[in-house]
Amino acid sequence: MTIPDLQAEPQAIVRLASETDFPGWREAARRLRARHVAPEAVIWTVDGAGNLLDAAGDTGAPSTFTVPRAFVELAGTVIRHRSDERFALLYRILCRLERETGLLAVKADPDVRKAHGFARAVAQAEHQMKAFTDFKRFAGADGGEVQVAWFEPAHRVTEAAAAFFVRRFANRRFSVLTPDVCAHWDTRELSFTPGADPADAPREDGLEDYWRSYCAAGFRPGQPARDRRNPPEARPIPQQIAHAEAPSPAMVGRTPSAPSPRAPPSGRLVRAAQRASRDASYDGQAVTTLEEVHAGVQMCRRCDLYRDATQGVSGEGPARARMMLVGEQPGDQEDLAGRPFVGPAGQMLDKALAAAGVPRDQTYVTNAVKHFKHELRGKKRIHKTPNAGEVTACRWWLENERRIVRPRVIVSLGATAALSVFGKPLAIGKMRQQALQLPDQAQGVVTYHPSYLLRLPDADAKAKAYALFVEDLKFAWSLAA
Ligand code: URA
Repeated sequence: MTIPDLQAEPQAIVRLASETDFPGWREAARRLRARHVAPEAVIWTVDGAGNLLDAAGDTGAPSTFTVPRAFVELAGTVIRHRSDERFALLYRILCRLERETGLLAVKADPDVRKAHGFARAVAQAEHQMKAFTDFKRFAGADGGEVQVAWFEPAHRVTEAAAAFFVRRFANRRFSVLTPDVCAHWDTRELSFTPGADPADAPREDGLEDYWRSYCAAGFRPGQPARDRRNPPEARPIPQQIAHAEAPSPAMVGRTPSAPSPRAPPSGRLVRAAQRASRDASYDGQAVTTLEEVHAGVQMCRRCDLYRDATQGVSGEGPARARMMLVGEQPGDQEDLAGRPFVGPAGQMLDKALAAAGVPRDQTYVTNAVKHFKHELRGKKRIHKTPNAGEVTACRWWLENERRIVRPRVIVSLGATAALSVFGKPLAIGKMRQQALQLPDQAQGVVTYHPSYLLRLPDADAKAKAYALFVEDLKFAWSLAA
């Protein structure tokens, strides 16, 4: 097939409907390709009208040229970057892909590098919005409760973060106000209204007034979408109702409002780790430090569990610990705190470690799966056991942790951990109290998961299982010594 040369003329002006109008960009790009319009001949604008092409007469038939799926995914992310360059950059890459089919794999190419840099920045902004949006509870005009937050995302990630909040807080009404767009969930429908003015962005106590004036100007959460053209007045509500209820642990308190104790990873670490996390073809390029593991876990897309979790939770402890403890996955509290074993199972583990004479701070504590898998039951997030596919996908991170920490002994807490550590299912009751050789020179020990002890209803059975658990930890520590 011969590919015609691109024409620098005629010039085309593309008018997209919004800053994140990806369908519009795709359609325009297809038509421009059909007319062989060169990238430098296109002016990309956003005017809200969504007329795809202008000034060049014929809008052209869409091109039949198919692009790699990886490009479509990359473009869908890049378009949410704030750079004015993004539409043109993507169209330039698209045009080049027709001749340079392997272009996306050329990481040193300036266009490819820039697009990946944009995508990483967007992913990081999305993560930050999910983790740090701080909801406050107010009484809505109908007296019902509404959760409201103000957030200024680094890139245009509000729609994606709002979809996450919907999954996470399905049965709570909320509004997230941002300068780009405001998202509103009424427990049935997610709707968007124009951005709120950052010039008078609410500080500290000002959020409620700000939100009410925003409602008065045009939006009332819970109002059917068809009525929103005629904005109702926000009904002022008595101060005592507005302030009576402190944020409850049920939602607001459980929404991370402060960064987790770890500092956000530097751009360099994010770049290194994200290379490693996004694409299985990078499996050969293992990460080399625990900081990179931590940064990569935040960005990980190896399976879908990241979608509903607040953040990824990597391991913690000395980079050269003699003993590694591997649990199943972060629980509800670990998901919020960003640290492993800090909830009830963590307290049980701490107690048993102390009884076994094992200083936790000399061990490296981690999990087989780094995101919290759960389902919503009413207001509660109920733990769900990760499946074999999720364990396998996340094993890559555990293997990196093992390679970096190089523990002498790896203790698998429960069956999921054992599956990940040994790569096959093991019967915990039968295999405990044995030193099992692992290929990386470490000795493997299996024992019960602390949550199993917590769940045992019978006090006698619980005491016996706890004694065995302590015995196993002692045994593992003696091997490590
Ligand atoms: N359960 C686990 O397996 N890991 C944690 O971090 C917490 C609970």
